[in-house]
Amino acid sequence: MNRHASTPASGISSVTSIDALIRLRDIRRRFMLGETAIDALHGISLDIHAGEFLAVWGPSGSGKSTLMNLIGLIDGPTAGTLHFEGLDTTALDDGALTDFRGHRIGFVFQSFNLVPVLSALENVMLPLQIRGVTERHARERALAALADVGLERFVAARPDKLSGGQRQRVAIARALVIEPRLVIADEPTANLDSENSRMIVDLMRDMNRAKGVTFVFTTHDPRLLEHVDRRILLRDGLVVSDEAMA
Ligand SMILES: Nc1ncnc2c1ncn2[C@@H]1O[C@H](COP(=O)(O)OP(=O)(O)OP(=O)(O)O)[C@@H](O)[C@H]1O
Ligand SMILES: [Mg+2]
Repeated sequence: MNRHASTPASGISSVTSIDALIRLRDIRRRFMLGETAIDALHGISLDIHAGEFLAVWGPSGSGKSTLMNLIGLIDGPTAGTLHFEGLDTTALDDGALTDFRGHRIGFVFQSFNLVPVLSALENVMLPLQIRGVTERHARERALAALADVGLERFVAARPDKLSGGQRQRVAIARALVIEPRLVIADEPTANLDSENSRMIVDLMRDMNRAKGVTFVFTTHDPRLLEHVDRRILLRDGLVVSDEAMA
């Protein structure tokens, strides 16, 4: 895959040659709670490379979700720069950001966030249909994505008929169906037992290897850090260690 082959969002001229999928430089995020300032991130600089399988861990309140929302382009920094495929994302307006995100980033959430009245298949078709892909084409791609996560027998099931682990597999299929460059998963295993947690991390690892998609996920569980390429420990809004694993 050649990242330079992808078309940047329209009207953007700020693409520079950067050898990282995502480059953060001195990222800060301050929240205001009334008069009180909460500095969730104090100056984070990181390069994330295409194809990495990366975990962010650290205690509650250390800034993991804040960082995921910034890397996922859901939220913007108070200061600092974030380049995605060489593009300065702080220069994008909301419409361009939504379009950019919709083509490049898949999301997996702690609480699965499936639409309860839709079948597994319809849930996975949704991001494509939002993008205007025809129903027939969306169906084909969603069926393939559900087969990739081993759920071909459950395509017609609504989420309430599926186990937690199966629901999260549907959510992973939904994240991957757009063929993203990056999947962001904030605590994807927090609502799962240890066996299902292991299965979900293994599945993400398989998808990372098979499709070359970059995964960044957060966890509280040290047992899930064993099979990552790289793990970044946050504490009080700062990176305290960034280890590449053998
Ligand atoms: N929208 C917000 N408004 C105000 N403060 C916020 C907001 N979001 C996060 N914070 C604060 O920023 C800090 C970091 O929060 P964050 O949710 O990123 O931590 P976390 O590492 O994801 O924690 P957890 O493990 O509990 O999910 C905390 O002090 C939190 O209270
Ligand atoms: Mg969090």
